[in-house]
Amino acid sequence: MTTIRVNRQWLLARRPVGSVRPDDFEYHEGQIPSPGAGDVLVRSLYFGYDASQRIWLTEDGGYMPSIQIGEPMRSMGIGQVVESGNPDYAAGDLVEGFMSWQDYVIMRTDGPMPLRKLPKADYPLSWNLGVFGVGGLTAYFGVSDGLRIKPGDTVVVSAATGATGSLAGGIAKALGAGKVIGIAGGPEKCRWIKEKAGYDEAIDYLNDDLAERLRELCPDGVNAYFDNVGGDMLDTLLLHMAPRGRVLICGAMSSGYTDVKLQGPSNYMRICTHMLTVQGILLFFYRDRLEEGAAQMARWISEGKLHVEENVFEGFEKAPELLPTVFGGKNPGKLLLKVADPS
Ligand SMILES: NC(=O)c1ccc[n+]([C@@H]2O[C@H](COP(=O)([O-])OP(=O)(O)OC[C@H]3O[C@@H](n4cnc5c(N)ncnc54)[C@H](OP(=O)(O)O)[C@@H]3O)[C@@H](O)[C@H]2O)c1
Repeated sequence: MTTIRVNRQWLLARRPVGSVRPDDFEYHEGQIPSPGAGDVLVRSLYFGYDASQRIWLTEDGGYMPSIQIGEPMRSMGIGQVVESGNPDYAAGDLVEGFMSWQDYVIMRTDGPMPLRKLPKADYPLSWNLGVFGVGGLTAYFGVSDGLRIKPGDTVVVSAATGATGSLAGGIAKALGAGKVIGIAGGPEKCRWIKEKAGYDEAIDYLNDDLAERLRELCPDGVNAYFDNVGGDMLDTLLLHMAPRGRVLICGAMSSGYTDVKLQGPSNYMRICTHMLTVQGILLFFYRDRLEEGAAQMARWISEGKLHVEENVFEGFEKAPELLPTVFGGKNPGKLLLKVADPS
């Protein structure tokens, strides 16, 4: 095994305007830092890709501090502790948390999502960023706690091929939903969500008339909507919700996240007239229940109720070019970049 002696980094070169581009980042070789008291030095193994990375690149940053020009790009990641200044973590431990696009990163162990020590497990290490990471656990708490599925419910999930959406349908089914409908872009992705991800029906948002398909598939209305897309899609769904329906706001993919200021839905009076409940979700609020969620997801996987799909690329050099694909052209499942093997 070759030992990397420099710290390869991808730094933010300029703040993106509109869609993020690979040349918004520049390659740099830096020093390998030393951890201070309480911190750990981690060698990067996997980077996860999330749409919210685009929000962190805005001037505002959204729900996290904005990434500054010259700083390494932040991502969720899996790594291995090389040196520890914290008695709770030892060299060799595998960990998951907020990392950045560099070979070696100093990680704080506290914060909104504390650095998670990974258990020895018989599933692939990368699953800790997918089904047992932000996407999977947001799907779990979003469907179980946010949408409060009742037996027989008609459930709709947008961005149904995504890391979150590819699991949300199966979770809703496992909790007793009647009909589970996924929204995806193109016939191939629509086929995939029905054949692999446990959806009963699919709506192709690129080719179908969404309102017409909702009328056909949900004659009594939608009881629960898991919204990953926002925009016009959310507006249309509001018109098709059943009385006392529940809407979970998980994301706003249609916005491209180029700005934190977005236009809200114009059909919002349906919330009033149909007594809808609209709730948000941010996984930080479930930080004390992550193990519970992962344990339930593991049970459903072993029972064959959930399908896990990963989309793994290899090579540190690919880090910037994969980010724009989150907003178009991505394959189903969790998008990951493997940069090293554990030692
Ligand atoms: N609140 C939280 O704690 C939390 C946690 C995780 C994720 N999220 C949010 O959940 C959403 C999905 O994230 P993810 O990680 O599951 O997805 P992902 O794996 O990054 O995939 C992106 C998905 O978005 C869809 N998409 C992209 N542009 C779209 C558009 N204009 N209209 C409709 N669909 C579009 C793609 O579907 P097609 O290929 O079919 O177009 C794809 O399924 C994001 O908004 C993310 O920010 C929120």
